[in-house]
Amino acid sequence: MRQQIAAANWKMNLTWEQGQQLLNGILGANVTPKQNQAVIIAVPFPYLTAAKEIVEKKAGYFVAAQNCYYKKSGAFTGEVSAEMLKSIGVKYVVIGHSERREYFNETNQQLADKLNLLLENGIVPIFCCGEPLAVREANEQNSYVEQQLVESLFHLTPEQISGIVIAYEPIWAIGTGKTATADQAQEIQAYLRSVLAGKYGKEVAAKIPVLYGGSVKAANAKEIFANEDVDGGLVGGASLQADEFVKIIEGLK
Ligand code: G3P
Repeated sequence: MRQQIAAANWKMNLTWEQGQQLLNGILGANVTPKQNQAVIIAVPFPYLTAAKEIVEKKAGYFVAAQNCYYKKSGAFTGEVSAEMLKSIGVKYVVIGHSERREYFNETNQQLADKLNLLLENGIVPIFCCGEPLAVREANEQNSYVEQQLVESLFHLTPEQISGIVIAYEPIWAIGTGKTATADQAQEIQAYLRSVLAGKYGKEVAAKIPVLYGGSVKAANAKEIFANEDVDGGLVGGASLQADEFVKIIEGLK
């Protein structure tokens, strides 16, 4: 079975004192991931090193960054490069989150550049994609998300694409409490896997974890994660409460 992942995205929340308390609560539950499972916690840049000390003491638990810049290095004040993240031992980086696409005008090409830099540095990208409400209401989500994959991922070799994680996050479900149904998640994630199979073949496509994100809660995680093409979740709000996120981890198949 391909890797199953419970990933937290703290976004721009929590002081470091609050973050420490949350991490201690999550790790204190002492949930041990199965051989094919991982727990990944994406924290703000300033917390990465200290959070890594706490989180990565336990097998199967990792920290992630929430972004990296799309240039290798240089005069980009305030930005953080893939190489910098590698230098402090970061193993996962979330890229292409819809909030960054919206607020910071990130393009599919910039994301392709980020993917190249992360893979060059041996870091696993968690590539976010997903459609806005108007696209879903027009039933055009499949072609919309397919274009995101084609423009950002399809320059990768089969070996490279085998080393990434995809997170499908319908924008209309993020932070709204309006979770996609398990059937909706399965339907589009199966389609995304068919698109990957069309480009790279079924064997490679079958290895790529595809997470669901968008109002995942302790109450709905197990049902959503039980679907064949849902390999866990990328969780925002619910990951800020230790007991909620622990139950989500326990919902992995
Ligand atoms: O990256 C995960 C996030 O976008 C989902 O947020 O609060 O709907 O779980 P939330």
